[in-house]
Amino acid sequence: MALFIQFIMKIAKRMDLLGSETAFAVSAEAGRLAATGRKIFPFHLGDINLSTPKSVINAAKKAIDEGKTGYCPAPGIPELRKALAKDVGDARGVFYDVDNVSVQPGGKPSIGKYIAAIMEKGDYVLYPNPGYPIYESQIEFYKGIALPYGYINTPEGLKLDFNAIEDGIQKGAKHIFYNNYNNPTGASSPVEEIERLAKLVINNNMFLISDDAYFDTLYDGEPKSIASIPGMFERTLTMYTFSKKFAMTGWRLGASIGPEKVIEQINRLNVNMESCTTHFVQYAGLAGLNAPKNETQEIIDILRIRRDRLVEILNEIDGIEAHLPEAGFYVFPKITELLKNTGFDDVENFRKAVLNETGVSFCGRHHFGRPLNDEKDYYIRLAFSGIDIDDLEEGMLLFKEWINNNSK
Ligand SMILES: Cc1ncc(COP(=O)(O)O)c(C=O)c1O
Repeated sequence: MALFIQFIMKIAKRMDLLGSETAFAVSAEAGRLAATGRKIFPFHLGDINLSTPKSVINAAKKAIDEGKTGYCPAPGIPELRKALAKDVGDARGVFYDVDNVSVQPGGKPSIGKYIAAIMEKGDYVLYPNPGYPIYESQIEFYKGIALPYGYINTPEGLKLDFNAIEDGIQKGAKHIFYNNYNNPTGASSPVEEIERLAKLVINNNMFLISDDAYFDTLYDGEPKSIASIPGMFERTLTMYTFSKKFAMTGWRLGASIGPEKVIEQINRLNVNMESCTTHFVQYAGLAGLNAPKNETQEIIDILRIRRDRLVEILNEIDGIEAHLPEAGFYVFPKITELLKNTGFDDVENFRKAVLNETGVSFCGRHHFGRPLNDEKDYYIRLAFSGIDIDDLEEGMLLFKEWINNNSK
């Protein structure tokens, strides 16, 4: 039985500045519906319903059996830092040393820690919007001024809005978040776009936080990091995570990787915040980095089938336009016409109606940063990482039927 306790504590004002990741609220909403016995088709969260590679699981068990259960160094175990320096450096064509790596409990902690380490109160910080909502939240929590930049929808996919980036630089932006292989839009930058951005960063003496959550999930070809552009290595802070590539979202393992002077400060934040990342999980991550490539390739192969089918089905629906993402877990279709056809003028109401009436659960654009004033089009985000192909097809069939029944 819940006890009623009179609330007399005072919540600090700064908590008003903290945002959230509202995709988790959609998850909770879908969970409540599922608890009533409804079948839910989970397109809302970038979680993965595939198992972590066997070699990673076995290494974790072995590490526990060997007693790797106590505290370990705040920057991470040296073996993992060394392996990450080589693996992440090689994949990006740059050289990192152990001291360039600070192990983290996931990718997300790097975002706030980087901001805490390099941003002064009142600094302008550019960030993608639509984008991962934690950028906006952390910039504002640490009292920076968040300057959004969006994407332009072209027949070839979504492109960085350089006008917005240049406007932000004119205002005096000192830092920029860049999430190539973007969540939620699925946008990926061609080399010219990466080079153009790097030039702006270098010429304006800025620093860039490269959120590489989906760097290792490119379906074809080799990924390219902005850190490899001459002059960018010393200006780039990379957020690395094991979550997506190794299907390890709940293990909580990642790393901050960048110039030693910044990483030293990140290590100090580690001591203050969590002492160290879970000891035995670090051995699991180490095994992942040394695992045969086929273990992670299997994950990509399954995701590719889901991605292709989802985009194919979405584009068959009148009023929906979906690009094929080159990396990541998300499709970000434009639904402006569909909203009109179904009589909705708000994505949130549309989303809720579809969820309640079909069980198909997805996010709206508004879950990825505050929408900008001049946005004319409406978008939703569907994740295909947490739903098997059969359910994906069944869910999309129901979605199609619902649209047919509700179109004017
Ligand atoms: C763009 C982006 N950055 C960071 C993260 C956080 O990753 P992690 O779950 O490893 O903390 C995510 C997770 O969905 C993401 O999509």
